[in-house]
This record gives sequence, C-alpha cells and structure tokens, in this order.
Amino acid sequence: MVGKRVLVGYATGTGYTTGVAEAVGKTLAERGYEVDVRRLDANPSATDYDACVIGSAVNGGRWLPEAMSWLESSAGALGARPVAAFCVHSMNGGNDAKQTRKRLAYLDRVRAVVTPVGEGFFLGKGPTAEDTSGFARWAFKAFGGTAEGDARDWDAIRAWAAGLEL
Ligand SMILES: Cc1cc2nc3c(=O)[nH]c(=O)nc-3n(C[C@H](O)[C@H](O)[C@H](O)COP(=O)(O)O)c2cc1C
Repeated sequence: MVGKRVLVGYATGTGYTTGVAEAVGKTLAERGYEVDVRRLDANPSATDYDACVIGSAVNGGRWLPEAMSWLESSAGALGARPVAAFCVHSMNGGNDAKQTRKRLAYLDRVRAVVTPVGEGFFLGKGPTAEDTSGFARWAFKAFGGTAEGDARDWDAIRAWAAGLEL
C-alpha cells in the first residue's frame, strides 16, 4: 500500500466539502498513501492514480454537475481502479428507515457509473438564524433537514478514511 497514489477529488458549492476532502486526504496520507486532493472542476486525470476517492456536496438530491461529469468522463479509467465515494449534505442525516433510504439515494447516479468500494455520508453545513429565516429553517427541518450550522463530524470523517480499502 505504501506509495500507492490516491486522488481525493471533490466538488463544492459553498466550500464545506473542501475541508472534508482535506481531512480524508490527510488520514489517507498518514496511512502511507501518496495523496493529491484536487477539485474535480480542475479535471484531474484518474489515470495518474491507483485509486480514487471522490466526493461532492449534495444539491437537489444529487452530486454537483461538475462531479458527475468528471465521473462520467472518467468512467473507463475508474472501472479499472478502486473508487470510494462520499457525499456532504445537510438533510436526511437520521438513522430511521426513511432518512436512510433518501440519504443512500444521493449516490444512485454515482452507482450507475461505478461500484464504490466504500460510501461515506457526512453532514456539512445547515441553515442558521444568521443566514436563513425562521420559516425557511422550519421548512428545512420538516423536509428532513438535520445539520445545523457547521455540522461536520471530523471523527466520523477520519474514521471513514481510516477504514477505506483502496
Ligand atoms: C441549493 C442547495 C441545495 C441543496 N440540496 C440539498 C439536498 O437535496 N439534500 C441535502 O442533504 N442537502 C442539500 N443541501 C445542503 C448542502 O449539501 C450542504 O450545505 C453542504 O454542506 C454543502 O457543501 P458545500 O459547502 O461543499 O457546497 C443543499 C444546499 C444548497 C445550497
């Protein structure tokens, strides 16, 4: 495993996924992988790596378009490499059946392209009183909103990266 090159590629809308990708990359580097953490809109080449860990913020129940288009255009190379996938989201973080089903569905389109060796679901940033009206926050919760403010769980993120078999 030492010296194996790993791409941690990510897409972000408002910046919170960047820190998640960096934490995943740091844990993998501590395990001996040679890691590059790159934005997917910079179009890194999957063929430069032995394995890829790919993540995106979730908007409208799916990965950001730049993450999906990178995935689709890299599908040939990814088919020959281990790929792990993660989502950063703020709704459906609960463990009941409904929220679990909706959360898992965030990767449906990804699973149509690759078969991830690991899947991670991490809360990012949810609305706060500073940026969102009381009514909108109420509606967010009513529709499965779970994160409040910056809800990134660094221990969970690191534990996921520590357990990945790439
Ligand atoms: C326009 C928009 C749509 C979103 N849609 C969803 C969604 O469908 N499901 C969800 O769990 N979170 C959703 N979120 C929450 C984001 O995934 C969350 O804030 C995440 O931390 C954003 O990561 P980023 O800062 O890297 O863009 C949405 C956020 C925005 C701004």
